[in-house]
Amino acid sequence: MTRLRSVVRGCGSYLPRTTVTNDDLAARVDTSDDWIIQRTGIRQRHIAEADETTSVLGIKAAENALRDADIDPATIDLVICATSTPDHTFPSTATQIQAGLGIQSGAAFDLQAVCAGFVYAVATADKFLTTGAASRALVVGAETFSRLLDWEDRTTCVLFGDGAGALVLEAQPGEGRASDRGVLTSQLRSDGRHREKLYVDGGPGSTGTTGKLRMVGKEVFRFAVGSVTDVIAQAFEATGTTADELDWFVPHQANRRIIEASADKLGIAREKVVLTVDRHGNTSAASIPLALDAACRDGRIKRGDLVMIEAIGGGFTWGSALIRW
Ligand code: ACO
Repeated sequence: MTRLRSVVRGCGSYLPRTTVTNDDLAARVDTSDDWIIQRTGIRQRHIAEADETTSVLGIKAAENALRDADIDPATIDLVICATSTPDHTFPSTATQIQAGLGIQSGAAFDLQAVCAGFVYAVATADKFLTTGAASRALVVGAETFSRLLDWEDRTTCVLFGDGAGALVLEAQPGEGRASDRGVLTSQLRSDGRHREKLYVDGGPGSTGTTGKLRMVGKEVFRFAVGSVTDVIAQAFEATGTTADELDWFVPHQANRRIIEASADKLGIAREKVVLTVDRHGNTSAASIPLALDAACRDGRIKRGDLVMIEAIGGGFTWGSALIRW
């Protein structure tokens, strides 16, 4: 049986020019390099300057992905930007990325699922591409979470960073088997009862301000390790694949301990786990495409490899996608 698949044509990323180390943060709040490394694995993060807005980062990541794909931007007929830190309440950051790339046709919109945003965006693009509603999609994860942080709150400000990553996906015929290239399955979940555990205390419809990020870290940690593995198990089940067949596990980069505990629980060998949290911190919807690009650039992820992406974000929202590169 033939069917359309969303095949990866290109990958790219971009990081703001300024890096901030744990010692830099220790000069501002009561924390230490040792505490941050031990609890999170983070050593540094990139923080955007005033001129580096989310769309600016997204455009640069998208340009790198389009160059990698070696395709004309004008052939992109779908742009999805996963972000919780849009330049403005509207228009969408995706339309600004579209304009920045000189694309004047097709559709562009933002998608908001916080740190799970990139998985949600890949799943959404996949539905467009495999139904014939679009032929080439640019899926961007771009964030300036530093703008949402309370820089006096040591329990949150040490965790996050800024950046952007992008994939070019193209509809191509497949056989309907797990050996096909492309997105093989995506599994999305949400449960809005957990709002108070991770949220921003403002917004245009409530306070009329942007607000600051608030988090009950321990509860997020517990949920992330305890519940999120369901979508990974379901992805294996849906495709008839196993953890042993996986070449690379590329999870949302929130915390090294969460990532390693999840991998251990699922029987995914540690050497298959792509980790960038040490260099990037938690860049929310940008963390997976940043990690994918890092592993493509250093030669780990190759054509034909089986790659699992997975994330949890505020809401809670969570999800996975299994991709044959
Ligand atoms: N430096 C030094 N000490 C600190 C810091 C800091 N930056 N932050 C907190 N502490 C202190 C606390 O005040 C507490 O002190 P106390 O014992 O005197 O009260 C102590 O360290 C332990 O704090 P805990 O919160 O119990 O530390 P924990 O081991 O749970 O680690 C952490 C905290 C790293 C936040 C962890 O809970 C975590 O990673 N949670 C998940 C967070 C996450 O992944 N969020 C992103 C989700 S994705 C999204 O959608 C945005």
